[in-house]
Amino acid sequence: MELHRPVMPRETLEHLDAARSGLFVDATLGMGGHTELILRASPGNCVIGFDRDAEAIELAKQRLAEFGERFRAVHTDYRRIKDVLREEGIETVAGVLADLGISSYQLDTPERGFSFRSGQGFVESPSSSVTSPNDPSASPLDMRMDRSQKLTAADLVNGLSERELADIIFEYGEERASRRIAHRIVAERAKAAITTTGQLADLVVRAIHQKGHWRIHPATKTFQALRIAVNRELDGLDQFVADAIDALEPGGRLVVITFHSLEDRIIKQAFRFQSGRCLCPPNQPECRCGATKRVEILTRKAIQPGEDEIASNPRSRSAKLRACRRI
Ligand SMILES: C[S@@+](CC[C@H](N)C(=O)[O-])C[C@H]1O[C@@H](n2cnc3c(N)ncnc32)[C@H](O)[C@@H]1O
Repeated sequence: MELHRPVMPRETLEHLDAARSGLFVDATLGMGGHTELILRASPGNCVIGFDRDAEAIELAKQRLAEFGERFRAVHTDYRRIKDVLREEGIETVAGVLADLGISSYQLDTPERGFSFRSGQGFVESPSSSVTSPNDPSASPLDMRMDRSQKLTAADLVNGLSERELADIIFEYGEERASRRIAHRIVAERAKAAITTTGQLADLVVRAIHQKGHWRIHPATKTFQALRIAVNRELDGLDQFVADAIDALEPGGRLVVITFHSLEDRIIKQAFRFQSGRCLCPPNQPECRCGATKRVEILTRKAIQPGEDEIASNPRSRSAKLRACRRI
């Protein structure tokens, strides 16, 4: 199995200021790629890693076993950061990293249902142009990061109304053909339940009627939308930023890497608010949002991977890194 390659490794370490010794939280441990870099950056560094995917936790534990007590993994949602740190008896940390999205492991494991093969003889992964070595055409429509969760993508596809499906595909996939796709889903599921990623991918191709060569597969946006909805990926992201900043010692860093514009917009706005920028509507006579300056933003513009990194790791191509420092 190919290991997940940590995105923007040098930029991440630099913005976390990982060369000094301290305790760091890796809020999205995944395969432990970034955590390993942090642990190697200084012999005094310790990392507590969170992931809501129990399989990722096990793989990361094996990978990082050599670091002994310097590394600890917790199977949890990063939105519980406050409670988890309290439970662990930790008051403040030197840095928090959140590398949002899904890992190569999740993408490349067909039974997780994150990637798909359409009947067009074309293998594609959502949020990636990398050809998967597996044949995920018969993958179940699952997409749960936390497999103990009940709700799957199949439940949404077969259970929501046409209107609800169209709204999700439009809002989370930014897909202009959302209504046509939702209409086709409802027509197809009336004949038989839609249970595989291949079925859904083919149905989207037919709904969109897109001809010629695709740069990205026409179903990519629909898959992104369903994945976000199944995992409620955007819910509570701004609160997570506030809680992560609460946990930082003075001078501590928060680094967030996003993979699509919806996530990046929320992080950008949350950073602005935490840096004291008033978010009230311009015509409001007085500030009611309560913005107070708690951080200094270190990345005026989001940092993106260089051409070399994109060439060697195409999955990094849509990544954006933002960082701030607790004052
Ligand atoms: C892009 S991967 C992280 C890869 C990691 N930085 C590495 O280098 O191996 C994102 C990980 O975050 C996890 N994740 C996503 N949302 C989460 C959440 N709300 N709470 C905890 N983990 C989450 C996913 O399960 C996935 O394993």
